[in-house]
Amino acid sequence: MKTVLVTGGCGFIGANFLNHFVPRIPDVTFVNIDKLTYAGNPLSVESLQALDNYRFEQVDICDADAVLKVMKRHMPDTVVHFAAESHVDRSIHGPGDFIHTNVVGTLNLLDACRTIWKDFEGKRFHHVSTDEVYGSLGDDGFFTENTPYDPSSPYSASKASSDHLVRAWYRTYGLPVTITNCSNNYGPYQFPEKLIPVMILNVLERKPLPVYGQGLNVRDWLYVTDHCDAIMTVLNKGKVGDTYNVGGNCERANIDVVHAICDIVSDLKNIDRNDSRNLITYVTDRPGHDFRYAIDATKIKAELGWSPSETFETGMRKTVQWYLDNVDWIDGVRSGKYLEWMERNYSQRGK
Ligand code: NAD
Ligand code: DAU
Repeated sequence: MKTVLVTGGCGFIGANFLNHFVPRIPDVTFVNIDKLTYAGNPLSVESLQALDNYRFEQVDICDADAVLKVMKRHMPDTVVHFAAESHVDRSIHGPGDFIHTNVVGTLNLLDACRTIWKDFEGKRFHHVSTDEVYGSLGDDGFFTENTPYDPSSPYSASKASSDHLVRAWYRTYGLPVTITNCSNNYGPYQFPEKLIPVMILNVLERKPLPVYGQGLNVRDWLYVTDHCDAIMTVLNKGKVGDTYNVGGNCERANIDVVHAICDIVSDLKNIDRNDSRNLITYVTDRPGHDFRYAIDATKIKAELGWSPSETFETGMRKTVQWYLDNVDWIDGVRSGKYLEWMERNYSQRGK
């Protein structure tokens, strides 16, 4: 690896990936291309600006010409593709952007790699994907790499499409690809539209905690830097053409996650735990809400030796503390457009 082009490096996972690896691997140049949508925040990677091995270019991956130009300018040998529209609720309100960015954007990147890479020796296109492509589990079972695709939301359908494109470019053109399908991440820099930051900020501000349905849906939580380590492990040791499922073996019902957040915030701020839990408000469920996700990560553990470092308890404490310590970042992302979204999503959900 000499030059790694990262797409979506100003978003939640991309920023954590860059903040984690750019300072640690000074002989590799990292080029961050990001459109800076509502979810992309240059503040999240501010400390990297001063480093010699970091570059930023504002590029929309839906613009094929711009993608090819930036690729030709930097000639990366490795691409790590994070950029996406990522929020399920937004995909329900407006699926169009999800198809453009997640499907057409991925196509543009795959084609640009095929154009600039005259031979594929030492090259890699890594696609960052989600366990949501597999649909929903019942009470039992786990997603393996062989689970058939069965996406439920416009978001997961668009990610499933992009996974298929990436595999097709491997089978048809021999493009050297790898894919990771990861479960729910949490940690610093997560945009406050997703469950965990919404709940942390609402407990702090003593606002209602909007739990969809009965709060019994189950997600499999992974601390974000453990996901970043898994991606780096696949880049270094993964087999070209292969898919790896990534997860923390950490299933929690949503209501248990919300209780945990209430308790951690209350303890840190000297608030009565029950007063915080009393803020919980059950609201109308998400349409097509997948019941349960659970990853079987045996393959990446056994073949590549990856395992997570954080438990839910240690990761959640770090996360809450990060939101308490980073009020400027939070103020920066909560613009007028953010408030419009919160109003749109939550005002339509009856109790
Ligand atoms: P995010 O929404 O926080 O960030 C997305 C980033 O992509 C932003 O910086 C945004 O500006 C950028 N972007 C969006 N459209 C773009 C475009 N057209 N051109 C260039 N940049 C664009 O997302 P995230 O949570 O960091 O997720 C990153 C990736 O990981 C996504 O592909 C997502 O599907 C996948 N993933 C996320 C999770 C999770 O729990 N968050 C879990 C598994 C997989
Ligand atoms: O599984 C991986 C996926 O995890 C990623 O691919 C997505 O990009 C990421 O957004 C996430 O999707 P989810 O839909 O699982 O995450 P979200 O934080 O939106 O919701 C988590 C659970 O909490 C889900 O069951 C819905 C519920 N929820 C969410 C919000 C925002 C609530 O009960 N209340 C809320 O206000």
